[in-house]
Amino acid sequence: MDAKTELCCLIGNPVGHSLSPLIHNTLASRMGINMAYTAFCVEDADVGAAVKGAYALGIKGMNVTVPHKLAVMKSLVETDSLAAKIGAVNTLVRTEGGYKGYNTDIIGLDRELREAGIQIEGNSVIILGAGGASRAITYLCADRGAKRIWLLNRTLAKAEELAAEVNSYSGDIVVPMTLKDYCEIPAGKYPVIQTTSAGLHPNTDELPLEDDAFYELVSAGVDIIFNPAITAFMKKCAAHGAPAYNGLKMLLYQGIAAFELWNGVTVGQSLANEVLSLMEKALFE
Ligand code: ATR
Repeated sequence: MDAKTELCCLIGNPVGHSLSPLIHNTLASRMGINMAYTAFCVEDADVGAAVKGAYALGIKGMNVTVPHKLAVMKSLVETDSLAAKIGAVNTLVRTEGGYKGYNTDIIGLDRELREAGIQIEGNSVIILGAGGASRAITYLCADRGAKRIWLLNRTLAKAEELAAEVNSYSGDIVVPMTLKDYCEIPAGKYPVIQTTSAGLHPNTDELPLEDDAFYELVSAGVDIIFNPAITAFMKKCAAHGAPAYNGLKMLLYQGIAAFELWNGVTVGQSLANEVLSLMEKALFE
C-alpha cells in the first residue's frame, strides 16, 4: 500500500470470517491494480454514518453484508433497478455525489447457474425456502424468464407473501406451497435451488426435505450453502443421479462482479479459478 492505494471495504456484523478480503486483494495483486480491501464491523445505528464517512474518505467501493443489505439503501444516491425490486444491496459503487447500489449476489448466482449449464429461461424451477436469499433468487428467476417457479417453504405464509410480491412484478408464475406439498408438482425434472439454512455448519446432517421421492424431481441441485462443501442436500441430489453444486462459486462471482464494477476490468476465468482454489484452501484446510 502507498499514498495512491485506493480502498474498498466490506461492512456488516459480524465480518471476521469473510472471504471477501481474500477475493479482492488477490484479484488486485494479480491484476496489478493498486487497490486494497478490508472489512469493518458496523453496528445497525451506524450504517448511514459509515457510508457517509467512507464517501468522505474517497473509498471507491463497498460491499455490504448481513444485517445491513436493506438498511444501506437509505444512504444511496441511486439503486440498480433489479436490486431495488429485490430490496437488498450488497455492492456500492462510487459515483458523483454518493454511492450507487447493486445486488451482485444475484449476478454471482446467475453466473454459477450458467456455468453449470442450468437454463432458467423458459423452464420451470423449484426454490426451497422463502427468506432473504430466496427473495433475491426468486426475483432473479422471474427476471430471467422462468416459466414457473415452485416456491416451497416450511412456513406457507412466507412463501405466499413472497410469491404475491414477485407475481405482481412478473405475472402469475410463482406458486407458493409448503415443503411437504412437493407431490403436487407435475412429474418431471427441474433445477432445484436450495436457499434454506438447513444443512449449514454445524447442523450438517439437516435436510430441508427428507423424502426420496422429492429428489426424483431434481435435474440439477444448487445449494447456496458453501460450508460444508458437500451439503446433505447435495448428497441426496447426487444419490438420485443429479449433479449438485454448492454456493462457493456464487460467493466468488458476486465478488468478481463487484471488483469489475469498481475497477472497470474483466476478470478472466483462469484467475477466477485460482481465487476459487484459494477460497477452498482458506475454508477447508
Ligand atoms: P436467509 O437470509 O439466509 O434466506 P432467512 O431469511 O432467515 O435467511 O431464511 C431462512 C429460510 O430457511 C426460511 O425459508 C426458513 O423457513 P421458515 O420461513 O419456515 O422459517 C428456512 N429454514 C430454516 N431452517 C429450516 C429447516 N430446518 N428446514 C426447512 N427450512 C428451514
